[in-house]
Formats: sequence, C-alpha cells, structure tokens
Amino acid sequence: MYFWFLRVSCITWLLLLLLLPSMGVSASSQEVSDGETLFAQHCASCHGIKGGGGIGLPLSNPSIIKSLTDEYIRYTIRVGRPGRLMPSFSLSLDDRQTNAIIQYMRSWGEADLIRDQAEGFQGDIKKGERLYQENCLSCHGENMEGSKEGTGVTFSRQRTMSVMPPALNNPAFQDAISDRALLHVIQEGREGTPMPSYKHKLSHQDTHHLIAYIRSKKRQVRGTTLKDEPLTFLVDSPLSFDETVKRIQETVRSNNFRVFPERYLEQGLTDEFSVNKQQVIIRFCNFHKLYGALKIEPRLGTILPCKITVIEKQDGSVQLVYANIKVLATLFNNDRLIEAFQEIEQSYNDIIDEVTL
Ligand code: HEC
Ligand code: HEC
Repeated sequence: MYFWFLRVSCITWLLLLLLLPSMGVSASSQEVSDGETLFAQHCASCHGIKGGGGIGLPLSNPSIIKSLTDEYIRYTIRVGRPGRLMPSFSLSLDDRQTNAIIQYMRSWGEADLIRDQAEGFQGDIKKGERLYQENCLSCHGENMEGSKEGTGVTFSRQRTMSVMPPALNNPAFQDAISDRALLHVIQEGREGTPMPSYKHKLSHQDTHHLIAYIRSKKRQVRGTTLKDEPLTFLVDSPLSFDETVKRIQETVRSNNFRVFPERYLEQGLTDEFSVNKQQVIIRFCNFHKLYGALKIEPRLGTILPCKITVIEKQDGSVQLVYANIKVLATLFNNDRLIEAFQEIEQSYNDIIDEVTL
C-alpha cells in the first residue's frame, strides 16, 4: 500500500520534472513546427522540402541562409519579386504566420553577414559597370534581368544550371537587400550554387563600385510611361495555324496555367455552320496569380486578360493577338496591381516567346 503511493507520486514527480522545463520552450517549438507546416504549404513547391531548392533558390543551403537576415526574408515574403516567379504573400500570410516561417528557416542557420572593413568607400558607377561586364554579365544578364536558364522560369527551356541566376535589377530585391548583405553575397558567393566567391578576385573597393552600379540599375516600377503603348499586340507566328494552337496549349500548360476548352472567335455570334474555324481563342489561367490580382482589384474581372487569339489570314499567314497587360494594369492606377500584373505579363511573354521564336 505504502509503496504503491510512493510509486505513483514518484511517477507524477518524474512526469512533472520532465514536463516543466519543456513548457517554457513549447511555445517556440510549436511556432517552429507551425512554420515548418506553413513552409511546406506555401514555399516547398518551389524551394523544396526543407528548403533544399527547386525552381526557387535552395534557401537552407548554409551559405545562403547565412546571408538572409530576418528583415530581408520578411520583406521578400511580403512583396515577392514582381516579374519573377517568387510570389507576394501579402494577402495570404499574416504577420504571425510569416514570423513562424522565419523562425522555422532560422533552424537551418543564423544570419551572419561579414563585416565590411571598407566602410566609407564610395562606389563609382562607371568602374562598377566595367567590373559587372567582366565578371557578372554572363550569368545575371546584360540588364541584370536574371537568367532564363537554369531551373525555373519556364520548364520547357533547357536547364543549364542547377540554380538560376536571379534578377539583380528587381526593385523588390533591391529594396529588401542592404549594401552589407550585397557585399556579403559577392565576397562569399553561394557555395553549392553556380554563384562564385569573389573574395580573392575583387577588393572591397571593387565590390563597392559593383554595388553602386547594381543600385543604379534598379528597375523603375512606378511612373513608367505607357502612353504610346498599344492596347493589344499582333505577332506573326512562324508555324501553321494548327501547330500554333498546339504549341500555345503545350507552353501554357508547362507554365503551370490551366487551359480551358478553346472557343471559336465567332461562336455564338453566327450560326453553327458559318463559324470561321480558322480563328480560335485560347483561354488559360493561373488561378493563384489571378486571384491575387482580383483581390487587389475586383473590377479586373470585367477585362480578364487570360486569353490569346490565333487567327489565320486569307493569305495563310498566322497571327497571335493578345492584350498588353501593362496597359490594362495601368487603367486602374494601382501600383500593387501593376506589380501583380507584371508577374502575369512575364508568363505571357514567356509563352509568346516560346511559340514565336
Ligand atoms: C512559385 C515559386 C515560388 C514560391 C511558391 C516561393 N518562392 Fe521564394 N523564390 C522563388 C524564386 C524563383 C526566387 C528567386 C528570385 C529571382 O529569381 O529573382 C525566390 C527567392 C526567394 C528568396 C530570396 C533568396 C535570396 O537568396 O535572396 C526568399 C527569402 C524566398 N524566396 C522565400 C520564400 C518563402 C519563405 C516562400 C513561402 C512563403 C517562398 N519563397 C515561395 C520562387 C518561389
Ligand atoms: C556562373 C554564374 C554566376 C556568376 C558569374 C555570377 N553569379 Fe551571382 N548568382 C548566380 C546564381 C546561380 C545565384 C543564385 C544563388 C542562390 O542564391 O541560390 C546568384 C546570386 C547572386 C546574388 C544574390 C541574389 C539573390 O536574389 O539573393 C547576388 C547579389 C549576385 N549573385 C551578384 C553577382 C555579382 C555582382 C557577380 C559578379 C561579380 C555575380 N553575381 C556573378 C550566378 C552567378
């Protein structure tokens, strides 16, 4: 009897002793596991399970996570990279969820930017330009628009690199990254990706020239002059009518868009037998992107841009007709919408390029 009580209380004490210390940390480990789930839901499709990489960068790579500060990650999640694949989550993740994701990502490693012994150096844009052309242009592109090679952007393109060189002129990237973090990436490179380290090749002063040049190339989102832009584009297709339709459908699918049953242009306007079968509208949509844009501007629903019309002319030549998304977006005079539309525009351009080049 006596022993029995003693045993119970022993077990109870033991349990209490085991539980008590863990209660303190349970809140934050709960957050980390929330973060892991949220990451799996929202990010892993591109950045890979546990951040190992895919279409998106391998974020958990030790040399990458080290150069990502909390503020940088937070800004990148909120704003995304307009015009690139990285979406904005400003509408789908609140502050708590974003923090949980950051906490989870921190389990891969802390931010540890190198100290710049050359603080106070003034960069020279002209010198930076020359250094960029010699060292960086081959991967990051003439205008820092990033590479279309590597993984991502379009699946139908050849993958020539394990990780695609990102756009450095992207305004959201430039707003997110500090000079110190830029310096860190250039000096240290990103081990395990094609991004080399320039520690032994470029001095701190050179790196500052480069940073000055990179800053000068930031792409302007606002205030773009669109007055002379056409409302619709007409592009010749090098392929036959049927081949063009087929190619568009394939490309649209490989860009993660859904294709709807095609419709003849005049359908519903004339009787069944006189429909011109050499005019087809291909409707397609990426719901994630479109819903993002619709949440910003519901009136958009009236002019949904998700279609390309293919027309065969009398002389047998084939043309594509599609809306100028940039102009459509400016009709609503909403900067956030313009940014959301840039992503859709990029997909459009990729699809048209794929069919016509
Ligand atoms: C549709 C694909 C996609 C999804 C989903 C996505 N990303 Fe990205 N992400 C990318 C791409 C692609 C890049 C590189 C940007 C570029 O090319 O300019 C990137 C870049 C980043 C960067 C910058 C990394 C660096 O080294 O500068 C961070 C941080 C990031 N993503 C975090 C996230 C998080 C967190 C989520 C989920 C909330 C997420 N991403 C969801 C595709 C994606
Ligand atoms: C051989 C190709 C290659 C060369 C050359 C190269 N880069 Fe990169 N760079 C990459 C790749 C790939 C990444 C993406 C790595 C990652 O973060 O996963 C990258 C990432 C970066 C980033 C981080 C961008 C981001 O979104 O996080 C910066 C900044 C950068 N490079 C600047 C430069 C500069 C400046 C030079 C020239 C001094 C240069 N790179 C030369 C391939 C290259």
